[in-house]
Parts: sequence; C-alpha cells; structure tokens
Amino acid sequence: MKSLDALRESHLTSIAAASSHDELEVARLAAFGRKSGEISQRLSQLGKMDPEQRREIAPRLNHIKNELQQAISAKKSEIEEREIEEQIGQEWTDITLPGRYRAEGTIHPVSQVTEEVIAIFADLGFEVAEGPQIESDWYNFDALNIPPEHPARQEHDTFFIQNSDSDTGQPNVLRTHTSPVQIRAMNAAKPPMRIIAPGRVYRCDYDQTHTPMFHQIEGLAIDTDISMAHLKWTLEEFCCAFFEVEKAELRFRASHFPFTEPSAEVDLRCSWEQGRLKVGEGSDWLEILGSGMVHPNVLKAGGIDPDNWQGFAFGIGIDRLAMLKYGIPDLRAFFESDIRWLRHYGFRPLDVPSLHGGLSR
Ligand code: DAH
Repeated sequence: MKSLDALRESHLTSIAAASSHDELEVARLAAFGRKSGEISQRLSQLGKMDPEQRREIAPRLNHIKNELQQAISAKKSEIEEREIEEQIGQEWTDITLPGRYRAEGTIHPVSQVTEEVIAIFADLGFEVAEGPQIESDWYNFDALNIPPEHPARQEHDTFFIQNSDSDTGQPNVLRTHTSPVQIRAMNAAKPPMRIIAPGRVYRCDYDQTHTPMFHQIEGLAIDTDISMAHLKWTLEEFCCAFFEVEKAELRFRASHFPFTEPSAEVDLRCSWEQGRLKVGEGSDWLEILGSGMVHPNVLKAGGIDPDNWQGFAFGIGIDRLAMLKYGIPDLRAFFESDIRWLRHYGFRPLDVPSLHGGLSR
C-alpha cells in the first residue's frame, strides 16, 4: 500500500496538472470517487482499524483530505478565470470604429400617400392596374369620349410626342390623366371589376399648385347594378380612412367630364384652424376629386356592353392629397429633390402604411 505521503504527493500532482474542468474532474474522482477514489477508500478503512492505529492515521488522512479539496477548488477557480479571460479576448469591441450607418433618405410623401390610398382601396376590394406613361392619343382622349374636336382637349395642356403610334399613325402623348388605364383595364379583364390605377401624369403647366408632372389615382368599378350611391359610400369610406377621422361629409357638385354621365366634383367638409386642416367639421368645403357614372361610349371603347353593365369612376390628385394631409404648402417643392425638404416632410422607411396601424404612423 502507498504511504500517506506518496498518496498526497501523487494526487496534488494530478490536480495541479489538470488544465480543464474535465481533467480536474478525473483527478477529483481519482481521490474522492465514491467507489474507487483512493482517499475515500482510505477513509472508509478507518473504521476497521484498531483504535491505536486509527488515532495515528485519522488526523493525517483528514489533513490530506482537506489539503486536496482546497487544491481542487483553487484549481477550479483558476480554470474559470482563464476561461473568462479567453472569452473576453475573443469578444472585444473596437470602440474607435465609426457609429452604425444611418440612411440619408426618407420616403417621399407622394410615395407614402400612394401606398396609403392603395391600402385603403385594396381593403375595399380594388385591384391595382397600370398603363403606360407614353399613351396613344386614342387611349388618352378618343376612347374616353373626347373626340378630336372636343373642347376638353384644350384644357389638358397636352405634351405631344414626335413619334406617332406605329399601329394607328396617331400622335402619341404623355398621358394627361390616369383615366386611359380604365380602358386598358376593361380590355384586359371581364366585368365585374374594381380597379385603382395610381401613376404619373403630365400637363404643360407650372405654378404654386401645378407642376408639369404630377400624380393621380384612378378608380373604376363595374357591375350590373352600380349606382352613384355606391360611389358616394366608397368615397366616404376612403376619406374617413385616409384622413383618419370617424366621419367625413361629402358634397357632390354637378360637373362635366366627357367620360362620365352624370359627372360630379366632390367636396369634403372641413375647417382650417391656424392653417391646419380639420376634416369632418366646419363650414368650408374642399374640392378633392372628379367622378361620375362611366359614359356608355367609354364602356363600349373598353369592349363592355353598356346595356348589361354600368359603373362609377373617379380621379384623385395624389400630390394634392399629400399637401392637405401633411400640411405641405407648395407643390413645386415636391419635385426639387432637396434633401432638407425630404428630411422635414419624408417618412421613415419602416413607417409602412397599414390600416390597423393607423395609416401614417
Ligand atoms: N381625368 C380627370 C382629370 O384628370 C379626373 C377624373 C374625373 C377622372 C372624373 C374620373 C372621373 O375617372 O370620373 O381631370
């Protein structure tokens, strides 16, 4: 049997040699393991010794036991400390690096409002439709019941394009409104249908409230028994959602558009308090859009039989909506690409319009 000194020596050496928790555990079990630990075994033998022998061995053995336990816990702390040091060494941060990059730009109010309008009409079952910005004279005018001699043509301040349409030989134009998308949508699908068409339009005009390029959104709903009442309800729903108010009162003013019969311009009840618009109350009226029941000639041009189908249509100026909702006084600044203006009126990229979130928050 090993002498107590040799026992002490060999266990202290293997504890000192351990360089990980696993190795330390092996060394600990060699000494104190319940069955095969050498110190445990010696301790259990004490009971069988005669009293004289025990009196001599027991204190020495206990002393060795304490010494080894202290050595184990000291080694354990040493290994833990070293592990922390290693971890810190790997997870360092260079505080001299520049801060995280912040995007310079923001979402343009026109984009924001377009998304808002689309979200509202999508909720009412309207699909988004598109058409080209360079449009044939036929789609922009004739198909919309505006024949060449019609005075409405003059009102549109049209930009003509030198290359004419290769099929018809007619001049091409920069579309003066989004209404031609009505015809394209009718050609592309069968009724019943509900579409909205947002996009750029062009007219040769420039002052505080007019720019040569601006944005409209067209709406069209066709079914067998659609009336002005459906139009009014739809527009009221839209105004409540868009201006984020409980109640919106609309006034239909008789008007004339060649592509609708009857036609109405729609005003919204509002008040101006210290230059800020309040919708739904007050004694002012704000003109916000043109609308009406689709003219039978327009349905025909779209390939739809006006004896079986009818519908309503409307056209809204998106830029004007943005000016009203967000208190922007001058339309021209929308297109001057001044980053300071955008920082003031723009929207953070994560402010995605949604009906449940409140559109603009
Ligand atoms: N296209 C018209 C414009 O640019 C707006 C408009 C009025 C569109 C009445 C419509 C409508 O669809 O029914 O002035």
